[in-house]
This record gives sequence, C-alpha cells and structure tokens, in this order.
Amino acid sequence: MNSSTSFHVPEDLDVSKLPKHVAIIMDGNGRWAEKRLMNRIRGHEAGAETVRTIVRTSREIGIPILTLYAFSTENWQRPKVEVATLMVLLKKFIDSERNEMIKNNIRLNAIGELANLPADVRESLGRTMDLTKSNDGMVINLALSYGGRAEIASMVKIIAEKARSGEIDPVSITEEIIADHLYTAGMPDPDLLIRTSGEMRISNFLLWQIAYTEIFVTDTLWPDFGSDEFISILIDFQRRERRFGNVV
Ligand code: IPE
Ligand code: IPE
Ligand code: MG
Repeated sequence: MNSSTSFHVPEDLDVSKLPKHVAIIMDGNGRWAEKRLMNRIRGHEAGAETVRTIVRTSREIGIPILTLYAFSTENWQRPKVEVATLMVLLKKFIDSERNEMIKNNIRLNAIGELANLPADVRESLGRTMDLTKSNDGMVINLALSYGGRAEIASMVKIIAEKARSGEIDPVSITEEIIADHLYTAGMPDPDLLIRTSGEMRISNFLLWQIAYTEIFVTDTLWPDFGSDEFISILIDFQRRERRFGNVV
C-alpha cells in the first residue's frame, strides 16, 4: 500500500486475501433524494460520485474485478424522464472517467443487452472499452441493461445454435461451457456481493454466477456509501468461512 491512498486502510484488512471479484447492487439513489425532498435524479447524480469513490478505493487496495449493477433490464420500465436522465448521466460518467481509467490502468467492460442503449451511450462506451482494452490493473464491469435471465436466455440461444450446426455435442455440455457463453466469460465468479439500501433480494443480478458468492446487505443508501464502510465489509468477508458445500 503506498502513501497516496485517499483513505485509511485498517490493520484488520489483509490485503493479501482480498476478494478477486466484488459485485455491487448500487441501490437507494431515489430514496436518498426523496428523504431530502429532492428529485430522484439528484440521487442518481450523488450516486455517480459514490461510484467514483468506490472505483478509486478498489483500485488502490487492489481488487482485480469490480462489477457494478448500474441499470437493469427491468429499469427500462421506469418513467421516461428518469430513464433518459440516467442515460445522460451514464454517458457523462463514462466520458469524465475515461482519462482516469487510462491513467490508472483500468479496463472498462460492459455486460448486458448493450444494443438497447441509446446510440451516443454505446458510442462513448465502445470508445472507452477500446481505449482501455489492454489495461491490466483492474476490470470494471458495468452491468447496463443487464438482466440475469436475459443473459441465461442469450447463452442458451448461442449454445443451441452451436448444437444445431454441429459445433457442440449436446451430451457434452458442461457447467464450464455454460459459463463460457455468459457475458462474464473468462471471469471468476464474484466472491462477494454487496447490496446497499437494505433490500434482501437479488433483482435479477448475476443469477448463474452467484451460486457460492458471499452476500452482504447494508442499510446505507448508495449515495451515502463510502470507502470506510466498503473496507469494513471486506474485513467481514475475510472473517467468513466459505465451505462450498464441503465440511471443514
Ligand atoms: C439505484 O437506485 C439506481 C438504479 C436502479 C438505476 P434506485 O433508483 O433504485 O433508488 P431507490 O431504490 O428508488 O431508492
Ligand atoms: C436493482 O435495483 C438494479 C440496480 C441497482 C441497477 P432496483 O431498484 O431496480 O431493484 P428493485 O426494483 O428494488 O428490485
Ligand atoms: Mg431501487
């Protein structure tokens, strides 16, 4: 750990045993704003600041993969203005973080039904993904227009097509082959899933990948979430005993 970290790393955090992949359901922006009698949009703006903080902290302490649930397939059903503003904020975020990602050796990746995003968001995302594709310091997976069921349906379609063309023999389909046809192909499953704002549900996030993920739900609303709480969750994670169905 170098002296440039912008937060205090407590001694109880073992930086040699960090999760390789942390996934976050960033929830509670709307409630944060409503509590302050503000428009929900203000909550999303404040939430974007938290994303910056948590990305920076993850990079500084050395988390290899951070997957952030930013927009679900179901979120398209929200009022048109909210969806449109979220898309504007998303593009603003990608554009404003591009140089920082390049400078900090971060690779941006996106998972989800990206074809459904507005053209300008896709363009901005594509450009940043391209400019950062060789970076190997950390991966940020932005889950955009993401749904776990849509991801599974897409995987089944690709595998079925390969079976029809004779490229895959249906009897030899394994869990590994399935994983290789998901958006997260080539990545380890998340070790830790954090959900902010207290909801005890998965909301269609990474359904296949979280089979043995450790789950942590905090009542803190996403705009109020910060590095100190993030690190205390990592410490809690390190104290858990993962058994993967075995005995110890
Ligand atoms: C999370 O905050 C951001 C998105 C889902 C896009 P919400 O907008 O869901 O905030 P709450 O749950 O209404 O407080
Ligand atoms: C989950 O939050 C999706 C994201 C954080 C992007 P939601 O606010 O959409 O989930 P529900 O509606 O509470 O299940
Ligand atoms: Mg919500």
